[in-house]
Amino acid sequence: MRVPIIAGNWKMHKTIPEALALVEQLKALTAAAREVEIVVCPPFTALYPVSDALKDSPISLGAQDVYWEPQGAFTGEVSPAMLTDAGCRYVIIGHSERRQLFGETDETVNKKIKAALQAGLVPIMCVGETLDEREVGETELVIARQIDGGLAGLTAAQVAGMVIAYEPVWAIGTGRTASADDANSVCDYIRRRIANMFGMENAQKLRIQYGGSVKPDNIAELMAQSEIDGALVGGASLDAVSFSKIVKFK
Ligand code: 13P
Repeated sequence: MRVPIIAGNWKMHKTIPEALALVEQLKALTAAAREVEIVVCPPFTALYPVSDALKDSPISLGAQDVYWEPQGAFTGEVSPAMLTDAGCRYVIIGHSERRQLFGETDETVNKKIKAALQAGLVPIMCVGETLDEREVGETELVIARQIDGGLAGLTAAQVAGMVIAYEPVWAIGTGRTASADDANSVCDYIRRRIANMFGMENAQKLRIQYGGSVKPDNIAELMAQSEIDGALVGGASLDAVSFSKIVKFK
């Protein structure tokens, strides 16, 4: 059985005091949540203080990006070991905003995943098609390219322990969610593709999240789908009440 995983991607929001206020509220509001893994992904500056605040909590910490080199003259970058040092267990890699705004490619995503795994982090690899790609019927083609490129050279055991987030670009921050059926069918495609590459047993272990305008009122239907094991939540994760309702989707 795959344990559901609900992660909040705070993007470029929350100063340190704001981040601490949010996690304190979240700890209280999710204390009764069972059989679900909760992850928060604050901006880099708030990672360590949030990690400290989460010391006695089951909520896990994730970062929003990482660089693939272990150290060196890479101004502005953050290494995998720096993230584990700051208390992270997860790291989001290849978010569509990074692909679209910061030149991230399947090749850089692949390098980052390998480096993250080496450091003991669990990558949350994001994939997803744009509206144009969906409209011309290229969703599976695009997802296949991102999966094949992002996971190239990994071992089956490494892939089995990862998380993949299917985030259709047109559903992010737009209030437009993929229908639960459509989201499930792409997640099913992702799992089948990974089964072909790494074997069915490993593909069955991997957790696949849906992301894109997830809210308290659509989470239950998404989570009821057979291939959706969780959610990567943007806007609705910035508010403790709405994120805790998502976490308690049952
Ligand atoms: P929204 O939930 O704001 O649409 O963002 C989704 C997302 O990009 C999470 O990574």
